[in-house]
Amino acid sequence: MFTCSAPGKMILFGEHAVVFGRPALALAIDLRISCKVSSSDQYTVNGHAMRKRHHAYISASLDEAWDGPPIDVDTMSKIPAASGLGSSAAVTVSCIASMTSSKGRLNPEKIARMAFEVENKVQGIASPTDTSTSTHGHGVLVSPHKLDDFLWKIEKGTLVWNIHHCDVPRLRFVVGYTGIHAATGPLVAMVKKLVDAENDAKKVIDRIEEIVLAGVEAVKKSDKRRIGDLMNENHTLLNQLGVGHPALDKLVEACRKHSYGAKLTGAGGGGSMIALTDEPDRVSKEIEMAGGEAIPISVGCDGVRIERRA
Ligand code: PMV
Repeated sequence: MFTCSAPGKMILFGEHAVVFGRPALALAIDLRISCKVSSSDQYTVNGHAMRKRHHAYISASLDEAWDGPPIDVDTMSKIPAASGLGSSAAVTVSCIASMTSSKGRLNPEKIARMAFEVENKVQGIASPTDTSTSTHGHGVLVSPHKLDDFLWKIEKGTLVWNIHHCDVPRLRFVVGYTGIHAATGPLVAMVKKLVDAENDAKKVIDRIEEIVLAGVEAVKKSDKRRIGDLMNENHTLLNQLGVGHPALDKLVEACRKHSYGAKLTGAGGGGSMIALTDEPDRVSKEIEMAGGEAIPISVGCDGVRIERRA
């Protein structure tokens, strides 16, 4: 068995809409979780007996990917939990990778597929955005259509998500973490109820789709002004879906002056926002002054990888 690590992610455009099979663009970030799996006489996580409720993602990963004797699972995380930065996907991907790596080789498509099943089971409803981005790294474009740089396809019921590699230009982002924990499952369920019931909410989802497509073009051209404008609009639309939070708005407002654009990232309801800027130190200070935790990040990092033989 091996110790594997996997990155967190930030969703640049398209969170929530992607759950309905619409496109999204996500970038891997340089905050990782590593997972070491070793043989044992009982199932443990970080030295404690494994409990299904307490260790939901790890225990579901075991059900999905492991049929051997008891194991110890040890994790080390640099990603704040429930922060919108993909910690649950990274823990799931790194655990599944450690459990399934054989002869020092990883099978990314198989890992992404299993990790999606785990997130879906634990969250109730999920898209494969976080798990595929954590697996592949770099940038990932999720689309209902098969395009250039296709990696793999994931299906659930009537929904199809085609996963594509996306090159990430040199862009500087700062994350602003509100410190407010928000579970993804209930937020996704709330948006689904709204979109199923209200035509206006459907129109918001349609507009988010247009933003993602325009955003992909802007990223290809490294057009920071355009990316920033689209981020601002995407933030407004997410607020209209009810997944905003006053603490997120406060951080977004605080860093607008020295950013191309800013938006919440991930499920919302707290968690984190991101700002695209040429002045990360200044924006970090603004976030801290507005009461958030500033985390400067690099984007476009490697996906899941083997760190060492366990
Ligand atoms: O906050 P996170 O890291 O769980 O991101 C969730 C992204 C959603 O689009 C809201 C849900 C999903 O499964 O795609």
